[in-house]
Amino acid sequence: MPVQIIVGAQWGDEGKGKIVDHLSENVDIVARYQGGANAGHTVVLPPKNGKPEKEFVLHLIPSGIFHKHVTCVIGNGVVLDPVALMTEIQQLKDAGIKITGRLRISHNAHLIMPYHKLLDAAREKGVEKIGTTGRGIGPAYNDKYMRTGIRVVDLLNREVLCKKLKRNIETSNEILSKLYHSQELDVDSIINEYQEFDRKFDEFITDTSEYLNNALKKKKVILAEGAQGALLDVDHGTYPYVTSSNPTSGGACTGLGIPPTSINSIVGIVKAYSTRVGNGPFPTELKNEIGDNLRKIGGEYGATTGRPRRCGWLDAVSLRYSVRVNGIQKVAITKLDVLDEFKEIKICTGFKVGGKKLNHYPTDTQTLDTVEPVYQTFKGWQAKTSDIRKYNKLPKEARLYVEAIGKMIETKIWVVSVGARRDQTLMVK
Ligand code: IMP
Ligand code: MG
Repeated sequence: MPVQIIVGAQWGDEGKGKIVDHLSENVDIVARYQGGANAGHTVVLPPKNGKPEKEFVLHLIPSGIFHKHVTCVIGNGVVLDPVALMTEIQQLKDAGIKITGRLRISHNAHLIMPYHKLLDAAREKGVEKIGTTGRGIGPAYNDKYMRTGIRVVDLLNREVLCKKLKRNIETSNEILSKLYHSQELDVDSIINEYQEFDRKFDEFITDTSEYLNNALKKKKVILAEGAQGALLDVDHGTYPYVTSSNPTSGGACTGLGIPPTSINSIVGIVKAYSTRVGNGPFPTELKNEIGDNLRKIGGEYGATTGRPRRCGWLDAVSLRYSVRVNGIQKVAITKLDVLDEFKEIKICTGFKVGGKKLNHYPTDTQTLDTVEPVYQTFKGWQAKTSDIRKYNKLPKEARLYVEAIGKMIETKIWVVSVGARRDQTLMVK
């Protein structure tokens, strides 16, 4: 049963791109199952032919694209922004990466339309701001569940596309002008632009569920790449401060059209500390010099929006919850090197409310906003780890920190990452 799922175990930005790229060496297919161009998966390619190393930020195309033998799939659960996709394809082609014959897009994926972005922006001007990425994600999933969405398959039929687009643009214009007093969209120009996408994407569009199930029959190895993280899951995250899809492992089956019985392994990606972009509860947030240092050393600025990320200590309570809802079997700890200079490092081991220990993970934002984190303090290693290539060569204090995380979340630590490059990946024996 060769499907491995990669999930973000926190609020996204755990370094999934790097780990997926690392694992892609030994897989046949990498498939994205949810989210859209709100994601920013960073992959750093090693120096080649005298050219320096190069950093890529992928928003839609799976992070396996840098391995020639890998086929990349954008599943039905993704909301696809054709404009973002075209830009990304062009950037990859410019860098000499072959896309033709290596990318398959589900005919059932829903399309992000210009009105989704305008609606997203307009809503975010209100008081109950989520702090979205502004990529139209929420409104696109809203249309999907309202059953008024436009799917990739609709690009293939001019008449259907025109009819649906006209209806949706007219409705959106009503909402935009009456409710938000914002600009309206021109029906004809959008229709023309989107018909053009059909010509450009035709070669990629297919029934990806059928493709993946056939690949399973042929014993191909598939990696399902999640975007965002478990605590941003619309069902299991810190609702309403979440994204509008299911980044948790369950989303991989519905988002790709593969059966639960095909899944054999679930890997959680955990950053060695916590970050969050956008609004919502964040119990271990550090609004002080330590938080600022984590941001500075870790380069914690959004890969999609450039926004500074909120930073704090690792939260083992949220992680235990994440391990449970995802069924995480092993963990990759990323960005351990960011903690190199700290004298003391803390992990949140419990929550208290009004001085009393909390025995469950609260998902209502009111409680989560008021919990007091209980911390265990670890001695920092205060040594450079980014040049170390063997786990047992890490300073003793660093290993103690990693092993403590494993114990707290009762999960095997499988990999420790000490930098963005491929070679900065240590296997834990
Ligand atoms: P949306 O997904 O753009 O609707 O944003 C909803 C929430 O999810 C906001 O708090 C965003 O900052 C957050 N979010 C969306 N995508 C990502 C991501 O890839 N990494 C981290 N946070 C994200
Ligand atoms: Mg990211």
